[in-house]
Amino acid sequence: MENFLELISKRRTIRQFRAQTIPENILVKLVDLGRLAPSAANLQPLEFLVVSDPETRKEVFPCLRWAAYINPAGDPKPGQEPTAYIIILVNTEIREKGYEYDVGAAAENIILGALTQGIASCWLISVNRDRLREILSIPEKYRIDSVIALGYPAENPVVEDFSGSVKYWKDEAGVLHVPKRKLEDVIHFNRFGQKQRK
Ligand SMILES: Cc1cc2nc3c(=O)[nH]c(=O)nc-3n(C[C@H](O)[C@H](O)[C@H](O)COP(=O)(O)O)c2cc1C
Repeated sequence: MENFLELISKRRTIRQFRAQTIPENILVKLVDLGRLAPSAANLQPLEFLVVSDPETRKEVFPCLRWAAYINPAGDPKPGQEPTAYIIILVNTEIREKGYEYDVGAAAENIILGALTQGIASCWLISVNRDRLREILSIPEKYRIDSVIALGYPAENPVVEDFSGSVKYWKDEAGVLHVPKRKLEDVIHFNRFGQKQRK
């Protein structure tokens, strides 16, 4: 359990990957974890499209926009692109709106499940959905919600205490620094604004 807590707190978005493919059975397992996530009213409107073959990966890559605050410095470098994608689709005949919580829960299941296998990820909503729909023959009744890019990590971002800006940055050595609001700034005990447990 302690390891799992540590894994969760050490999770960082990764945008540089090693050129090592992810075994198919792991990708299937990750979708299974997405399938088993909590779902409001248990409607389960989500489906998952796995892209792992190299040719299709090459077509998907230009549909994605990386690390907007530092563009283009956050883009995966040539040879460091993701080695798989899981695209989260919403069946709008099951649910037209209010599915975002389900997507969040499923995505986090996939992201953390991947991490237990040493696989890192970047969850993207900056996606060219029209292009993606065309390339992957996704029917109109499915909304393309977001894309989880996956691969074995080739970078080590570090967390910084928030000091006025939420914008992540890269230093001269190319290390990504990610500001997070401090625990004491986001926690309240028993009454709003109470910072100590009485
Ligand atoms: C819903 C959602 C959408 C995101 N979309 C993008 C995206 O389109 N492109 C990208 O490079 N990162 C994207 N990210 C990653 C965030 O930039 C990242 O989570 C944030 O900078 C904090 O870093 P951390 O994940 O390492 O804690 C997204 C994250 C979330 C939760």
